[in-house]
Amino acid sequence: MDCIEVYDLVKTFREKGKEIVAVDGISFKVKKGEMFGLLGPNGAGKSTTINILTGLLEKDSGTVKILGFEPEKNWEFVKNNSNVATAYSWLSDVLTVRQNLRVYAKIYGVKNTEKRINELLEMFELGNVADRKVIRLSSGENTRAVLCKGLINNPKVLFLDECTVGLDPDIADKTRSLIKNYQKENDAAILFTSHYMYEVEQLCDRIAFMSNGKIISIDTSSNLKKLIKKHTVEIAVKKDIKPLMEFLKTEGVEIIFAKDNSIVFEVTTEHDKMYKVISKIFHKGFMLSNLHVKGPTLDDVFIKIARQK
Ligand SMILES: Nc1ncnc2c1ncn2[C@@H]1O[C@H](COP(=O)(O)OP(=O)(O)OP(=O)(O)O)[C@@H](O)[C@H]1O
Ligand SMILES: [Mg+2]
Repeated sequence: MDCIEVYDLVKTFREKGKEIVAVDGISFKVKKGEMFGLLGPNGAGKSTTINILTGLLEKDSGTVKILGFEPEKNWEFVKNNSNVATAYSWLSDVLTVRQNLRVYAKIYGVKNTEKRINELLEMFELGNVADRKVIRLSSGENTRAVLCKGLINNPKVLFLDECTVGLDPDIADKTRSLIKNYQKENDAAILFTSHYMYEVEQLCDRIAFMSNGKIISIDTSSNLKKLIKKHTVEIAVKKDIKPLMEFLKTEGVEIIFAKDNSIVFEVTTEHDKMYKVISKIFHKGFMLSNLHVKGPTLDDVFIKIARQK
């Protein structure tokens, strides 16, 4: 079942007589139980898309369905079964974390409010700040309090827009596990944006790359990485590096840097070129003390797509 459906969505802003096409006819679907990443450079249109899907902005044209229903026509149902957490939304500063969650529990039609709030506070390790005003939270505590708000109604559809910003590496890792567990245990559909490629790779089942309001590509992270046909090879030799340098220059690889007895170069994987170069290095009798081959990362894909403007 498709929990999020977007067809030909368009949103234009007008500013000082100028037209900004923030979302330029995008279409995608997110299945039940699927975590779907929306990636793209600053200003690509990701937050605008999420703001339309969560009812914060009105679309110009196109169709949006959440759990099979158009939000405009079935707002109460859509609201009570979906939710959003973003680093850019603010809880009320003058209320405590617990008071904020009570307000949202009412807005989202939650039953057994106190039980749910306590569960979430424990899950996100916020018990000790539960009765503190939001203005006195650290930024990492605030980010986690916003995530509690996002899960208050056990949403079947969850929108997470840069929801891990400002978390220290330990808490960020725990938070990613909590999000993944939530997805699995509730078969939830999650639309996720982040500029941290490793977490997108770790969490998302499929990824859409957005640029200038358009979706350029939708695929799994391993298929997207196949767009990059280069590997990085790091080699260390036991003796002088110069003969290996000379040899590599004749092979037409791109040397990134050479230092002491190590050399790092990029080589295409097309026509088995990388394997041929490495096997020649062995056949020529270079005495190696280290050989490390690194495939492309999602960062490489991001940079390639972002620069194709
Ligand atoms: N209310 C607005 N009025 C005018 N322009 C807007 C408005 N909101 C967004 N924009 C513009 O629309 C474009 C898309 O912005 P959006 O916030 O959706 O990008 P994003 O992909 O979320 O970027 P980021 O990675 O920086 O969060 C940008 O050019 C932005 O300046
Ligand atoms: Mg954004």
